[in-house]
Amino acid sequence: MPLGVSHSLTGPDYRASSGFGMALVGCGSALPAASISNADLSQRVETSDDWIRSRTGIGARRISGQDEPLTVLASRAAEAALAHAGWQASEVDLILLATSSPDDLFGTAPRVQAAIGASGAVAFDLTAACSGFLFALVTAGQYIASGAVRRALVIGADQLSRWVDWDDRRTCVLFGDGAAAVAVQACAAEQTGLLGFRMRSDGSRNACLTLAQSDDREPLLGALSAQKGGFAPIHMNGQEVYKFAVREVPQILAELLEHTGTRAEQLDWLLLHQANQRILDAVAERFAMPQEQVLSNLAHYGNTSAATIPLMLDEAVRDGRVQAGHLLASSGFGAGLSWGAALLRWSGPPAAT
Ligand code: ACO
Repeated sequence: MPLGVSHSLTGPDYRASSGFGMALVGCGSALPAASISNADLSQRVETSDDWIRSRTGIGARRISGQDEPLTVLASRAAEAALAHAGWQASEVDLILLATSSPDDLFGTAPRVQAAIGASGAVAFDLTAACSGFLFALVTAGQYIASGAVRRALVIGADQLSRWVDWDDRRTCVLFGDGAAAVAVQACAAEQTGLLGFRMRSDGSRNACLTLAQSDDREPLLGALSAQKGGFAPIHMNGQEVYKFAVREVPQILAELLEHTGTRAEQLDWLLLHQANQRILDAVAERFAMPQEQVLSNLAHYGNTSAATIPLMLDEAVRDGRVQAGHLLASSGFGAGLSWGAALLRWSGPPAAT
């Protein structure tokens, strides 16, 4: 069994104890230039600023232009994180790109590797919808804990604007595009920034939220036909997803706190996947966290899927809210269904520590 890891029947749990730790030393983000407000959107579908804001907290979202494919946004975010950490691209060993909307289904991370000039890094995609960044961060933590990797870039990037049905007001108002990255590096176990995690999947509830292969088939030979590549737009049972989130997220966070021996009062910040302000409020209430300690930027960007957590972290680091040594409880949740939580300590770049 790898150092510091304990297994259970319900999924991987982790509490830092020995081996290498993983320090979070830099972050960066990149957003498309175009912003669409709720009022703008109401020209396209029958909706209103009041409906969207009161149900979700979302006021606007960014939508990628033609010159802003995922590779470009993810690469800009990665470069910003590199600069923040004070690293050269050549020092990166691993690039993990969490995304559900790749430019290339064979993998977009290698394009990012080439774009930023990190020629020594192995790069691959990881797909877990809105849990993707958290799952990728934990994955990077395992490579670092084993000693296989010293420096990694963990990127969350999505362009769900490609995959929403712009005539479906129940979903198109929720999502936006964006990318953000965190630079992580090996450190002494006692200085780790990944103090614990829990991860869960429940495929029996997959139908609640899908971006599934479409059914189109191409006649081939005689009775034989081949499936055509392509995906149906995002389909979501909003109420089921809402119920899932407000039940499972507080539960997994409570387990994480218990497992790591942490009291909610010790947390500096709640850093949750930004899906809906009502979900953030419900989770905060469960832990009696004051509103000002619950990070939220939904109003500006909506749900950017795998990008929300690092995007929020980058904003809060850069405006000085999150400081070196701060303790953050983070949770990602979404399609799969998948969800997870991690207890993080922000280190920041060496100069800040
Ligand atoms: N504008 C105006 N009216 C709307 C809109 C809209 N954009 N969308 C739905 N409505 C209408 C519906 O048609 C319905 O009208 P009806 O009663 O006449 O049929 C009414 O509003 C209520 O619809 P509900 O779907 O019941 O609305 P609800 O209160 O559940 O809110 C919402 C919908 C905001 C989507 C909520 O269910 C939610 O936030 N769910 C969680 C979604 C989420 O977080 N998804 C992302 C998960 S992360 C990931 O991995 C992608």
